Amino acid sequence: MATWEPPADVAARVGELTDLELLHLVGGDGPALKGNLEMAKRYNATPIVAGRLPARGIAGIAFTDGPRGVVMGRSTAFPVPMARGAAFDPGLEEQIGDAIGVEARAQGADFFGGVCINLLRHPAWGRAQETYGEDSHLLGEMGAALVRGTQRHVMACIKHYACNSMENSRFWVDVRIDEADLRDLYLPHFRRCVDEGAASVMSAYNKVNGDWCGGHRHLLTEVLKDDWGFDGFVISDFTFGVRGSAQACLEAGLDVEMPFAWRVKRLGRAVRAGRLDRARLRDAAARLLHQQDRQARRGEPARYVSEAVASPEHRALAHRAAVDGTVLLQNDGLLPFDPAKVRSVAVVGKLAAIANTGDLGSSRVRAPEVVTLLDGLRVAAERHGITVEHHDGDDEDACAELAARCDAVVLAVGNTFRDEGEWVGKDGGDRTRLTLRPVDEALVWRVARVNACTAVVLYGGSAFVTEAWRTDVGAILMAWYPGMEGGRALADVLVGDEVPGGRLPCTWPADERDLPRFKRFARRIVYGPLHGYRKFEADGAHPAFPFGFGLSYTTIEWGEPEVAGGEARVTLSNTGDRPGVEVVQLYRSEALGTEPRALRTLRGFTKVRLAPGETVTAAVPLPDDGRSGALWLGASSDPADLVALDA
Ligand code: BGC
Repeated sequence: MATWEPPADVAARVGELTDLELLHLVGGDGPALKGNLEMAKRYNATPIVAGRLPARGIAGIAFTDGPRGVVMGRSTAFPVPMARGAAFDPGLEEQIGDAIGVEARAQGADFFGGVCINLLRHPAWGRAQETYGEDSHLLGEMGAALVRGTQRHVMACIKHYACNSMENSRFWVDVRIDEADLRDLYLPHFRRCVDEGAASVMSAYNKVNGDWCGGHRHLLTEVLKDDWGFDGFVISDFTFGVRGSAQACLEAGLDVEMPFAWRVKRLGRAVRAGRLDRARLRDAAARLLHQQDRQARRGEPARYVSEAVASPEHRALAHRAAVDGTVLLQNDGLLPFDPAKVRSVAVVGKLAAIANTGDLGSSRVRAPEVVTLLDGLRVAAERHGITVEHHDGDDEDACAELAARCDAVVLAVGNTFRDEGEWVGKDGGDRTRLTLRPVDEALVWRVARVNACTAVVLYGGSAFVTEAWRTDVGAILMAWYPGMEGGRALADVLVGDEVPGGRLPCTWPADERDLPRFKRFARRIVYGPLHGYRKFEADGAHPAFPFGFGLSYTTIEWGEPEVAGGEARVTLSNTGDRPGVEVVQLYRSEALGTEPRALRTLRGFTKVRLAPGETVTAAVPLPDDGRSGALWLGASSDPADLVALDA
């Protein structure tokens, strides 16, 4: 058992609890069968409560899911985390966390289960949208920011611990991984969030090296609780997260079975017979009480009112996040639309006119309203005196005719919950293709052939392979799943009222064969030390769009970077006539895990905003982890964008 010592008053309160009460604390409160049926109808309509013991003054935990926002009620649907990862802005993420925390409390929850920080090993992962990208440092900083923001109001739970990055096989896959790769690549972001003070960790469904994560002594006790000194509680992933023996799971370090005490409620006899150590149950109880005590001391009750849910302020934040997460991948000068040349816009594609905020799984947020791209464009176009006509894309000839008679085309294509997401029925799951659907590719060709002024707006949770058509179009914007204000944000970017602020949080390959192996249905898979941009460097391969890449509407000139005072510094000047955004990225060449070669790895970043004509000095703190390696500073992971620093 882990060595954490609870505060004396917590230990004293736990000491008074009966066996029955101790067992009550380690599982969800609701009736399992009825509760599961209700969840199947409308998941998380109300908080999911666990470990409430009013007679002992123990409030328990009241769970709401995320991370797109609060899953309960009609809450603000923010852009998905992949879009927020693209914003490379922990300050903004902390504000989103603050808003989520307020909306959770306003609806009766005090425990947010939506800090998803699984590393995107391959862009086909169906739940890619729920995480912040392929890089451990980025995941750690963004996850920590969400923990900081939400934990002003609620307890935060980070998930899914660990190596949960395949959807279809998540209930049975055994991820085989060397300890060094686990520690250097797949766990540091969890540790970062634990160090930030996250109250809870959710174990994953899958196995790691032969053991189910929900009963994984090495991960839960040795690494998390002993090595990292975690003083919070571990919950299981829901319903099927306690596998094998429930007793063994508790003994291995699991603290609470969620969402119901389905397996743990049968443990009474084991406790009475002394087969299940009471000390372990007391430790679990103490962890819960300790975090509930912390929770009782936080908050701003005056803000927890129903009007706070999807309030104008939170919607404005969702709009900002969508603008800042939108990545301009390609632009031949078409964007932003020049009002002197673009008087009419053809909007083509079904996705322009539907609410497309992400999958329909446990992270689904039912926003009171979703502004579609078409809605947004109509409003923005009116401001600029542009006319807008829409075609859903079903009739290629009609689309071509419309495109030919307009000055420019906005073509909305990509994925929906049918193509990717948490597997909740016949839709979603891992992606079967990284390209667009063949019909969408055909539509791009057709439209671009008659009008070269075509801007493609892509929706999806991670990378696309765009080789078949990217050189045919004038501009490409990656919208991800941009939330309830996404349409307004994208329209503002298209007409130039806002500038796109995103950088890719995952590498976009030109050729899928440059990625690690992904199996949609796998009993076993080996996770090696190479994925993402480190793999591209190791293999000497070239992506279509590198990690960290994104264009802006202006030119930003870089001065000579230097290292001074524990920071890498560089002077940036916006030499254009529009506002600009730059993400200054610091990489260090490091051998990680079982990979002996020193490969560039993100170790710091800062986002800078520059008014036209403005010059600023950007500073990125050097890592202080005692490791050494060549340092690089630049605007993306592409070697051509990086300058070696003399440390
Ligand atoms: C998901 C978790 C989620 C839980 C609750 C699981 O299927 O993996 O992310 O929090 O369900 O619905």
